[in-house]
Amino acid sequence: MTRESQHISTDFLVLGSGLAGLTFALHAAGHGQVTILTKAELFESNTSYAQGGIAAAIGESDSWKLHEEDTLTAGAGLCDPGAVRFLVQNAPDSIHWLATLGVRFDREEGATSLTDWALGREGGHSRNRIVHHADRTGWEVERAMNAAVRAHPNVKIFENAFATDLLQADGRCVGARAVLAEEREVDFLAAQTMLATGGAGRLYQHSTNPRIATGDGLALALRAGVPCSDLEFVQFHPTTLYHPQLRSFLITEAARGEGGTLRTHDGDRFMYDFDEQLELAPRDIVARAIDEEMRRRDTWCVYLDLTHLPRERIERHFPTIIEKLNSVGIQPHRHWIPIVPAQHYMCGGVITDLTAQTGMPGLLASGEVARTGVHGANRLASNSLLEAMVFAKAGAQAAVATKIERPTHFEEPQVRRCVPESDAIRLRRVLQKIMMERVGIVRRDAGMNSALMESEALLSDFAALPEAPYSQYSMEAHNLLTVAPHLIRAALARRENVGLHFNADLVQS
Ligand code: FAD
Ligand code: SIN
Repeated sequence: MTRESQHISTDFLVLGSGLAGLTFALHAAGHGQVTILTKAELFESNTSYAQGGIAAAIGESDSWKLHEEDTLTAGAGLCDPGAVRFLVQNAPDSIHWLATLGVRFDREEGATSLTDWALGREGGHSRNRIVHHADRTGWEVERAMNAAVRAHPNVKIFENAFATDLLQADGRCVGARAVLAEEREVDFLAAQTMLATGGAGRLYQHSTNPRIATGDGLALALRAGVPCSDLEFVQFHPTTLYHPQLRSFLITEAARGEGGTLRTHDGDRFMYDFDEQLELAPRDIVARAIDEEMRRRDTWCVYLDLTHLPRERIERHFPTIIEKLNSVGIQPHRHWIPIVPAQHYMCGGVITDLTAQTGMPGLLASGEVARTGVHGANRLASNSLLEAMVFAKAGAQAAVATKIERPTHFEEPQVRRCVPESDAIRLRRVLQKIMMERVGIVRRDAGMNSALMESEALLSDFAALPEAPYSQYSMEAHNLLTVAPHLIRAALARRENVGLHFNADLVQS
């Protein structure tokens, strides 16, 4: 690897090109030079895979107050009410902003107005309020946002640029170090840095998240001592495909919103035993119910039944899912879909305020890497794309309002070393299995204690391995190994069952 002696200077440095990073970039770009670093291609992000849509109270019988109530209920008493109100009140404007960028949301049949959007339903929502683009909302959002940032004269984009460290000077974040495509290590100095690196789904053996979700931003923040919290609240999506060729492919909750039901192999609609909202109960309840049924009946999966729904309706609403299912021989109008829960979303992260400021001056965070307080103990479906937009915009507005000179110097960060890829792969796989089995939907003290010891030992093993040439895979494994013990400690410290955190040892007998 070669090290560039010259640094690159910018006003705003953005790490990540999902909805949070690109929203920040577009709102800041009118006020200074924006530089985006993203570790794969611009399009690659959790955002691009979002299916169901974005929640906003824009329907006639809806109001931000109802959206607020539903968000607070899902969060199980641990949301920050101020952050929730800020989120839901800004939701309709965010949707209109996306539409002005060219995002084509589905419209009602026979709609006369351009903004007469079709509103879907998902678990925990008391109204239909999910705007969407069939079952590929994220793809459509990312398409329009990518075009907008690429066209902006003040935005410079570095693809395949992997951020390895935050740069600091006198306790302030002054940018980031990154390895670019040709294995050139470059320091980017910025007046303000936005951390928008997304989630850490790859901590788990089964996750809906794509390969980029390796908790890099969280690890960068933890290593720099930036305060993080709520890491124990890991959301499992109830319905991901159980199939050897397409494991963990998401089947959107909107399919249940359209009337899909959950059944055991003998046809029992088991949600009757768990919650009066049945299949549209909040995700934590549905995922736990499925987990319990699978354990009780000693089966590998349960089923999502769409066979009673009009075929034409399923095909119109879920074209991507139908295509995927057909590719493995499942025809949802005839067959029940085998499903299992899989890791989906991190509710916790870097603590931020309403303007995306973290505990470190000069560093902002937004999107899945951040803990804004809107999710509490459990995220309401389709609130996360919304959160990414609302807080990234507020962060950009605050950042441009604070006139900060571009920094010229930084303190040398600790050297990060790589280990042989084969070892990184091995350690990462062991970790993923530990997390899945012992820090998943149902946890126990003994399992979490052993998971903590073993994950710490894996981190020590990593440090003891021989040094190897630069490998992004090794860096990502190190990041996952860094995040895991923090998450497990948070789960052990939470002595109540609330929202997504369920410790079977805390159940009163
Ligand atoms: P991401 O979109 O994940 O973007 C992170 C970016 O950071 C990527 O570009 C990545 O390459 C980059 N990056 C990461 N590490 C580094 C590094 N070290 N250096 C440089 N760049 C880096 N939410 C909803 O609200 N509605 C939905 O319908 C919905 N459906 C979903 C379906 C699926 C299958 C998945 C996985 C998630 C879904 N979610 C949904 C959740 C939502 O998509 C994410 O929470 C949200 O997109 C996160 O946006 P983000 O900008 O924070 O991160
Ligand atoms: C889905 O489409 O079911 C995912 C929605 C979300 O994660 O908010």
